[in-house]
Amino acid sequence: MKFFLFFSIKISLILIFILSCTENYSTKPKLTDEELYESKCSRCHELYPPSHFNDSDWEFQLDVEIERANLNSHEKNRILRYLQSNNND
Ligand code: HEC
Repeated sequence: MKFFLFFSIKISLILIFILSCTENYSTKPKLTDEELYESKCSRCHELYPPSHFNDSDWEFQLDVEIERANLNSHEKNRILRYLQSNNND
């Protein structure tokens, strides 16, 4: 009986720990597409304005730059969306 009590307290503690982690994760402030662009693409050179390229040139150039910036495809899509919707193309 004592053992089971101890065991269930332990399980509850683990559950509370896991739940508090997921809570933290989901309330973490999310970067906008623009902030993601600024944080990932200003490391090596000045930020190029979205108007620097038209839609298809951004698509081409971003393939080169995601290698350099070490981005995953989700981040690439978000940055591409930001650039293409702010370049008046
Ligand atoms: C690891 C360094 C590095 C990172 C990170 C990086 N770049 Fe570059 N980028 C370069 C280098 C090197 C060049 C070529 C030389 C230059 O123009 O400064 C370049 C050139 C460019 C150019 C100019 C192309 C042209 O012909 O006009 C654009 C636009 C560009 N990068 C966009 C981006 C974007 C968008 C990101 C974020 C996804 C990014 N870069 C992240 C290194 C980097």
